This record gives sequence, structure tokens and C-alpha cells, in this order.
Amino acid sequence: MGKSLTRKIIESHYVSGSMVPGEDVFIKVDQSLTHDINAVMTYLAFEAMGLDRIGIDCCVSYLDHNLLYLDHKTPDDHIYLQSAARRFGVHVSRPGNGICHTVQVSRFAVPGQICMGGDSHTPHSGSVGMLCIGVGGMDVATAMTGLPMRLSMPKVVKVYLTGELQPGCNAKEVILEMLRRVSIKGGLGNVYEYVGPGAAKLEVPERATIANMGAEMGATASIFPADEQVRKFMAAQEREGEYIELLPDEDAEYDGCMEINLSELVPLIACPHQPDHVIPIKDTEKKPVQQVFLGSCTNASYSDIAKAALVFDGHFVHENVSCTCAVSSRQVYRDLMRDGYIDMLLHAGVRMLELACGPCCAIGQSPATEGVAVRTSNRNFKGRAGNPNAEIYLVSPESAAATAIMGTFASAEDIIGADIVKLKDIREPEHYTVEDSMIIKPLPEEEAKKVEIVRGPNIKYLPIPEAPEASMRICVSLKGGDNITTDDITPASAEFSSMRSNIPLMSQYCYHRYDPDFAARAKEMGQSIIVGGENYGQGSSREHAAINPMFLGVKAVIAKSIARIHKGNLINHGIIPMLFQNPEDYEKIELGDELEFENFLNQIEARRVTVQNRTKGFSFDVKLELSDNETEIILSGGQLSYLKKQLAAQNGEKEISDHCDG
Ligand code: F3S
Repeated sequence: MGKSLTRKIIESHYVSGSMVPGEDVFIKVDQSLTHDINAVMTYLAFEAMGLDRIGIDCCVSYLDHNLLYLDHKTPDDHIYLQSAARRFGVHVSRPGNGICHTVQVSRFAVPGQICMGGDSHTPHSGSVGMLCIGVGGMDVATAMTGLPMRLSMPKVVKVYLTGELQPGCNAKEVILEMLRRVSIKGGLGNVYEYVGPGAAKLEVPERATIANMGAEMGATASIFPADEQVRKFMAAQEREGEYIELLPDEDAEYDGCMEINLSELVPLIACPHQPDHVIPIKDTEKKPVQQVFLGSCTNASYSDIAKAALVFDGHFVHENVSCTCAVSSRQVYRDLMRDGYIDMLLHAGVRMLELACGPCCAIGQSPATEGVAVRTSNRNFKGRAGNPNAEIYLVSPESAAATAIMGTFASAEDIIGADIVKLKDIREPEHYTVEDSMIIKPLPEEEAKKVEIVRGPNIKYLPIPEAPEASMRICVSLKGGDNITTDDITPASAEFSSMRSNIPLMSQYCYHRYDPDFAARAKEMGQSIIVGGENYGQGSSREHAAINPMFLGVKAVIAKSIARIHKGNLINHGIIPMLFQNPEDYEKIELGDELEFENFLNQIEARRVTVQNRTKGFSFDVKLELSDNETEIILSGGQLSYLKKQLAAQNGEKEISDHCDG
């Protein structure tokens, strides 16, 4: 049997371990990326490892999420990040250059390589045949050292695309259809490999929309072949020299298979409050819409915005709608401006925003009280837009434009009727405006060593967890339901995002919108445990959703299931992820119950722990779905302590500092 594209890439980066799905494989990484609201902890961890320079080909630090600068905190973070990047040989994409994933796929991604990025939508660059995986910040710090990275060997699912998207339908329809079928947790442990005649017709930014939002299915990654579309895109980016053709074998073996006929798709919408609540737009109850946002890494490419502009052409934003647009990169913005599309948007009354993530992560443009917001971004969790009582719906740019005009849910055809065929003529430019003055290149090593890292007062130390003790008697500080998101644990907004380099401050707002008393309660308990339902920690890769509870004394999480990236973050930051052996035990535990763990270290090694509920007088079993390597990390007290041992072994007894207190 032949090989899938994913298998070929993993094999070419193989260092050790097993290539059986679910088992640990250790691989060499070529690239990494970080962004401003997650990266300070990553660079503090990298500093703590005591290395002079990154050990992989290319790392890029993006300053792209929070550009509001409400006070000194975010600019302090940006100055720290820029100086740390200069010190360690990392590229910097400056504020205003665009959103990380768009810039990464355009200017850095290379077919056949592997990238680990500190953002859950890192798989975006799977659109050019690169295996790109979203991980926590501590994992990115590890990848930057050049040490082999652990990956749970994924299952590879073939998604065979036939047909062709009809005008008014966007790649967003493809991924919403995938979410409708697979659900928000059905992709766990999988890489989705898109092939077939339908895939061959999709341009790279369309593929990027699909690969990007594969994160919403809980997938490890999504990938497309490096084929003629990729060659064309890289040539348009003046990077054809970096292109290599990379295809799955004709008779490639897969762990599963799905098929979608693109011609049969209709405009879809994801309804509140999960991206898999997908129905056709025409079936939506026609509510008044208060806000429309065109933008984000998912759906703000040249073609996306140009098609939206054509829907707006000759129409105006409804008087009750606030419609904003954040184009995904400076390059795309300049090309849209050159071709007249920005003017069409301005003429229609669309408010142009900064080239940044912004509203996608609640940095500006929160909806009104109980407002209905329609967005082209990728997540519609409660509170994701900064207002927990608002409703967020996810659609394509074409449908978003139509909705902004109608003032209620609509598709492009509702506005432009038979003229919809003109959307078919919009293709990506044959030549993008290539100009990289907003990317700061790494300094030569000797010069870089002289760079002083600048730490403002907001840059606090990286807290280091303790190794688990031989026995524990701790109380339940939070009992949550199903699908708790990392937004629930560490709320998104300009205000909260600017606290991410200051854990003592930010931890006070842990679970702020979900359970406002949690932080004070956990602090008073000293040490505690969280109990969760299904899919605990889904959503953004932000490791603060592990660091803040750890700082507040949380030692373990027991849940029915835990999302992939969050599980990795818990392990990295010394919180033990446990799963109910019998999910019915979840019902028997209440907030405040005292749980006892005896002979704990041996039980961790056995990956099965018996817990005594001293308050209710019963015992129950939990399992630890940990690999040998993850168990070692847990017993070491988290990834940093573990890595320090690894690097010391590799470099002799080189001294490594405990933390980097600014
Ligand atoms: Fe930014 Fe939203 Fe994408 S926060 S990286 S635009 S998911």
C-alpha cells in the first residue's frame, strides 16, 4: 500500500518512537510561530532553558493580536517580544503586517516541512502541503530548542472532494459541512488530508480556510497536497524556488475516508454557541442582526474580501448594523486597494479596522447587549466576542456582506440574484505585492548575543509547578459542565489579553465569566482540583488556561474528556489530567467535596488512580491517558523541569536558571 502525504512528512522527520496511531513519535521540527498574546510565557520559558539561539531553521514572532495598547501593558509585551526575538535569532512580523497565519503561509511556509505553532489555528499552512500543528506555548519553546518533539501519531483521514463550489459558496461552507458531520470533538487525534478533483480546484487561501478551521473539530492538523495550486501561489509570492511537489501515493492507505461533493453545498451558518451547530442559512430564523465582522485568519483573504465587496457593490450597510472589516495582511490590503475593492467597501459604509485579529478575540467591537453578531471568523463560543449575552453566528464573507445589507441572515444570492455568477470571476492575484519591510530578520549570532532583552513592569516571572506529592487531600474548587472552553477559563478581551505576561494579576480573573468566585475560592483552598464534563478545555491553544489554575493551586483536572491541546498544556504546567473511568461518577461529585489520593506517585505510574471522596464516603477510579514521556513530565513537575534535565544531559551540566524574573 502507498503512503498518505501526512505519513510521508512524518517519516521524513522521524527521530524515534512508534508510528502506530495513538503512540508517541518524536520528530524534528523545521519552523515555529508565536503570537503576542500567548508568546511572553514561551520566550520566558526559552530564556529559562539557557540557550543562546534557536535550534531550528525558522521561528517567527508575530505581533498581531492585540494592537489596541489600552495602557502600557501590551506595548511593554511587544517591546519584550521584539527584543527577545532579536536576542535568540527569531524573525519578527511587526504590528500592522498582518495576522500570523496569513503571513506565515504567504511568506514562510514550505511544502513537506513541519511547523509547530503556539496557536490552535497553526494548521492554516497545511494549505501548502506543510504539516502544521497547534500546540501550547511551552511546547513551542521546546520546539525552538531543536530537541525532537513528541507527537501522538495521528490517524489520517482522507477527505475526497469532488465537484466545484458554486458562486455564493465559499471554502467556509466546506469546513462548516465537515463540522456538521464530524462535530467539535470528532476530529480528536486525526489529520484530515483533502484530496480529489474538488480539492485540486481550490486555491491556497480557500484551502487555508478549511485547514485553519479543522482546529474546531479538535483535529491535530489538516493538509492539502503540494500541487499546481501551491506552485501557482508560491510563484505569486515570488517563492517558487521553495516549492516542491508533494502528493499522497495513488494507492495511499488511510485510517478513514469521507467524501464531499462541493457542487452540492449551499450557504451554511454555524449557530450559537458552538461551531458545529451548522444549518443552511435559508433555514435560520430571521432575527435582526446588530453587528457583522468581516475578517480573521480564517476568511479575510484577497478573494474573500473582493467577493464581499462585489456583494456590497451598489448597496449599503443596513442602518441598524455595525459592519467592520479587518483584512488579514498588509499585502492583501494593498492588493485589494490597488484593485478598487477597499473603495467599494468604504462606499458601502463598511468600517475598516487595523490589520490584526482584533474582534476575533474580543479585542474591540464587542456586540451590544443581547446583540446578534455575524462573523467570518472561526469560533462562536459564548463570550468569545467579549459579551457573554451576545449570540455569534459564523458564515462566509459573501453571506456576511449580504447579511450586513439585509440586516438579517442572508446569502449573496438574496442580494445580487442572478448576478451571483460574477463572484466566480474572482481569483487570487497572479502576482501579490511582495514587500517584506515589516518583517525584521534575525541578527547574526554574535551580534544577537549583545542584544539586551527589555522587560517592562508587566513582564512577571514564569511560575514553575511543583512535582506531585506522595499523597494529596484536596477539595473541588470548580465543577464545570461539558465543552468548557479556554475562553471560559481565561477570558478573551483587550483588557485580559494584556495581562497574559503577568500571571499573579491575570490569575485573579481565572474563570471570571464562568464562575466569578473561582479564583478567590481556589486561592483560599490553597490546593484544589477541578472537575469537568466532556471536551474540557476546547478552543484556543492559550496555555494561560493551564498556567492560571496552576498558579492558584490546582493540582489536577478530572473530566469526562479533555481537548488535545489543553491536555498538553495541563501536562506541561504540572496539572495532572485525569479521566473518569466511569463517567457516571461525575454526577456524584460536588463543589467543595474533599478528595484523597493515596500512594499517588505509584498510581500515576500505573495510569490508574483510585480516589476517595471523603465528603461523600465513596471511592471511584480515574485513568490517566498518558504516554511514557508525558508521565515522566508529570512526575518531573512539568515540561520546564523535565526539559532542564534533558538539556543538562545533552549539554553536560550547563547551568540553567530557574526562572526569568523581570
Ligand atoms: Fe487571530 Fe482569531 Fe485567527 S485571534 S489567529 S484571527 S483565530
